[in-house]
Amino acid sequence: MAEPAFHSQRFDLAVDTISKADLEEVIAWLRAYPRLTMADVTREFEAAWARWLGVKYAVMCNSGSSANLMMYAAAESAGLARTKKIVVPATGWATTVMPALQLGWQPMMCESDQRSFGLDLDCLEKLLQRERPETLILVHVLGVPNDMTRLRSLQQKYDFEIMEDCCASHGARHRGQMVGTFGLMSSFSFYYGHHMSTVEGGVVCTNDEKLYFHLLMARSHGWLKDLPAAEAQRVMEKYGVDPFRAPFTFVVPGFNLRPTDINAKIGLIQLPKLDDTIRRRIANHLVYQRRLAGKLDFAQALEGDVISSISFCAVAGSTEQRRRIVTELDRQKIDTRIFTAGNLGRHPFWADRYGAFEAPMADRLYRCGFFLPNNQSLEPADVERVCDVVCAAL
Ligand SMILES: Cc1ncc(COP(=O)(O)O)c(C=O)c1O
Repeated sequence: MAEPAFHSQRFDLAVDTISKADLEEVIAWLRAYPRLTMADVTREFEAAWARWLGVKYAVMCNSGSSANLMMYAAAESAGLARTKKIVVPATGWATTVMPALQLGWQPMMCESDQRSFGLDLDCLEKLLQRERPETLILVHVLGVPNDMTRLRSLQQKYDFEIMEDCCASHGARHRGQMVGTFGLMSSFSFYYGHHMSTVEGGVVCTNDEKLYFHLLMARSHGWLKDLPAAEAQRVMEKYGVDPFRAPFTFVVPGFNLRPTDINAKIGLIQLPKLDDTIRRRIANHLVYQRRLAGKLDFAQALEGDVISSISFCAVAGSTEQRRRIVTELDRQKIDTRIFTAGNLGRHPFWADRYGAFEAPMADRLYRCGFFLPNNQSLEPADVERVCDVVCAAL
């Protein structure tokens, strides 16, 4: 194949979804001197997000990492984590796993699946048989859905709760159903470069009313103040709290993970654009799949599932081949990086405590995985161009 010519455009892994027009809208809103701390606009965004995803409750917070922390905290304070045993994925994000360490849970790491790069369900079943954990947190890695049908049949057999980290998989679907609607709770990130951005931001979603109350408390100091009136009344009666003291009664161990109404306002402006962004990312992903099939490994969707990728992850045949490809990408001004964090169990935060987690697939992703750009600013023709560079460097 002929060597691809240098080009002047830089292809970035991440670009902002917040446009100049969006900022003008925020500025116009600010000119009316609205309240900026969390209030009505946050509630409006939460209702809009819950409608978009198709769940009853959404609790916005200040990052996807905070959303994960809130899921753990709510599960614990709602009494779902008596043994504190939780299965965590080897590939995902550090803050998918870290709350388990911070809150004194007993995490057990699960190998990555060759097809989805999510949980290897055979390894998972062995863990379930041996350890009987009550909870599991999974990541739909880079927008590739886990096999939720098989996971649910394991759930029926072994009885555990599922938390879904969807921080980088907005709009991915398994058998037509949106990820983030399978588990007891799910988290999404609205950081820069994700499918939509609120500058910093995140949200936890659930259909469970009790967990919703616990999420509201986890987000804000553990206090009673944010609970809906009927639930606040019930808690007041349970603890014999009079109305004067009630707002500043601290019911469960909480944090301050609140967003501001500025983030929520930006979210309300971003949300109508989300479906189009997802459509573009899906189209770009399909080009990568077509062009790189048989040349490099990458995650595969189950038939009928939809991958809504944040970046395209390719897996080289060796670390040396990866080095050749990324050197050429760099030369051609195409942004790249290692595959997420690779094997989380090899990072010091985990390995210093539990010893390095050795797992063939997660290790392979660590040694040979790398990212190729996929974002809403790229057209399929741009992706073709990136693939030309990759193929020439193989
Ligand atoms: C799977 C996953 N979980 C959690 C996060 C953390 O989100 P945030 O950066 O908003 O804290 C990320 C960030 O990229 C992620 O990819």
